[in-house]
Amino acid sequence: MYRTHDCNSLRKTDIGKQVMLAGWVNGTRDHGGVIFIDVRDREGLTQVVFRPEENAELAKQAHTLRGEDVIQVSGRVAARLPGTENPNLPTGDIEIIPNELRILNRADPLPFPLDAEPQNEDLRMTHRYLDLRRRRFARNLQIRHRAAKATRDYLDSQGFVEVETPILSKSTPEGARDFLVPSRIMPGKFYALPQAPQQYKQLLMVAGVEKYFQIAKCFRDEDLRADRQPEFTQIDIEASFVTPDDIFALTEGMLAAIFKAARNIEIKTPFDRLTYREALERFGSDKPDRRFAMELVDLGETFRESSFKVFRGALDAGGVVKAINAKGFAGITIGQADELTEIAKLHGAKGLAFIKAESGEWKSPIVKFFNDPEKTALQSKLNIEEGDCVFFAADKWEVACEVLGRLRLRIAEMQELMPPREIWDFLWVIDFPLFEWSADENKWNAMHHPFTRPKAGDMLLFEERKFPEVRAEAYDVVLNGVEIGGGSMRIYEPELQDKMFEALSIKPNDRESQFGHLLRAFRLGAPPHGGIAFGLDRLVMLICGEQSIRDVMAFPKNNRAMDLMTQSPAEVDPKQLRELRIRLAGAAPESRAPSGPK
Ligand code: AMO
Ligand code: AMP
Repeated sequence: MYRTHDCNSLRKTDIGKQVMLAGWVNGTRDHGGVIFIDVRDREGLTQVVFRPEENAELAKQAHTLRGEDVIQVSGRVAARLPGTENPNLPTGDIEIIPNELRILNRADPLPFPLDAEPQNEDLRMTHRYLDLRRRRFARNLQIRHRAAKATRDYLDSQGFVEVETPILSKSTPEGARDFLVPSRIMPGKFYALPQAPQQYKQLLMVAGVEKYFQIAKCFRDEDLRADRQPEFTQIDIEASFVTPDDIFALTEGMLAAIFKAARNIEIKTPFDRLTYREALERFGSDKPDRRFAMELVDLGETFRESSFKVFRGALDAGGVVKAINAKGFAGITIGQADELTEIAKLHGAKGLAFIKAESGEWKSPIVKFFNDPEKTALQSKLNIEEGDCVFFAADKWEVACEVLGRLRLRIAEMQELMPPREIWDFLWVIDFPLFEWSADENKWNAMHHPFTRPKAGDMLLFEERKFPEVRAEAYDVVLNGVEIGGGSMRIYEPELQDKMFEALSIKPNDRESQFGHLLRAFRLGAPPHGGIAFGLDRLVMLICGEQSIRDVMAFPKNNRAMDLMTQSPAEVDPKQLRELRIRLAGAAPESRAPSGPK
């Protein structure tokens, strides 16, 4: 036997009991010969006191202990001396007076201390198992487990069946770049790791499963960011004979169950719904963060006849003039203004005009171009007060919205507008465009994916190939400005699917070789169906209050997609390559992964 209790369970009521604990040496303190050891396990800490006058031999042994040695201690639970209790520790009223100490394993000096916040991320990732011993990560893994369990329990209660789909699957041209796996048995042929189980789950609907889900690993060879990993986990859902409202109600219930189970948080359902158009109009983003205001205001009417050529020119060319009012930001520094101008330019703006309301006047080189009615209109539309700073974008609608949306987020950071207490602002973004134009490829791409159906009311626009105007039966769930999920109603008619591939300029031959299985299945009795997938990592990141999905994954990759702990990816034995009939052509040129919807 290793232990009678965990390190977080002994209380005053246990005083006098003989117990046995096992765990890691969290820290040792030597108070003039008396040695205090905190033993730590997954659950918590318990103090053990070695007094030389009580047991000289044991105290000598304890003297040799170092942080992270693994030990087993037997002893008697005793009350701490009055005044030495630790109210911050659940076991803070008691300590163990040991009669036996077994050192189960020694630890070398650590590469980084576990109690301080280590700066060197590479070092942490190389010794990830040490990182995971820290309270914060242990808690995150627990929360993740509870979230996954609540997901399974809830979906099971709604009649959903978890079905595993293949990891060795097939490459398709849409979306991000695939990870490929060479076939040994069929040299020259490759599997692809799934970017999502999208086609399989639709085929399961054709198979009559009706209500499918899976906590599924997905693989995308994209450039990494704080909320993107090459290998991540989805809560993947698909159902037959459903409408978007069915999916909304189902997943709102699921999220409520997850938040309750993970952290006992009650979230408010149903969630608000915003159209894509409105989200961009008001927040400059298809994943609006509504925890602070600073909404975009349209000034087209105000400047229609303006003599300021920048504004007038944008409007005459069919674009827009929009602005945001950063309340109380007139004290903006030159450095901040430069940074915001850089952000604006990075997202396609030609410049960034702004007005500071300071000392009773509007300070800006552009104010002189405005006449009195324009100033009055500006003042009232933006509610400009002393101390405010107003930023303008005059451009095509998409560019102006995007630029101000980015500025809005950065200004909120600069002004620290984020409320300190936790807020869970969920919303649905609906009515996405079906297509987006790719200037690089000179063709239309599916904004969500090629299996998403046009909105019933826009079918005529689709037939008439008025692609920019066609909306999709597609939706995203946004939480605090992060896209946590997305899905759609699917095309189930083979003719419509074929038309969709045609719209995406996928040649008939390619359609057959890449999607033939799907088109054939659709001809053999495919029910209407639709679904959604949530990024489990992103969801858990937000529940845990973390800034990066790495912090809620046990073994994440770094920003070069490397696992530093196992040193993967790695070279392989030439024999393995020969078996696969692969010859290396030398170092590959630096390349960027394409990004886009799956
Ligand atoms: P989508 O591509 O929007 O949809 O992905 C669904 C959700 O998965 C999360 N996600 C990621 N999380 C971490 N790292 C990544 N690289 C990453 N990429 C995506 C996001 C996203 O909202 N098959 C469709 C869903 C459907 O139509 O049912 C799909 O995969 O939170
Ligand atoms: P200009 O007339 O080009 O000197 O521009 C006058 C001011 O308007 C400068 O502060 C520019 O940065 C700004 N500006 C230029 N183009 C735009 C634009 N498209 N949207 C917003 N501001 C702009």
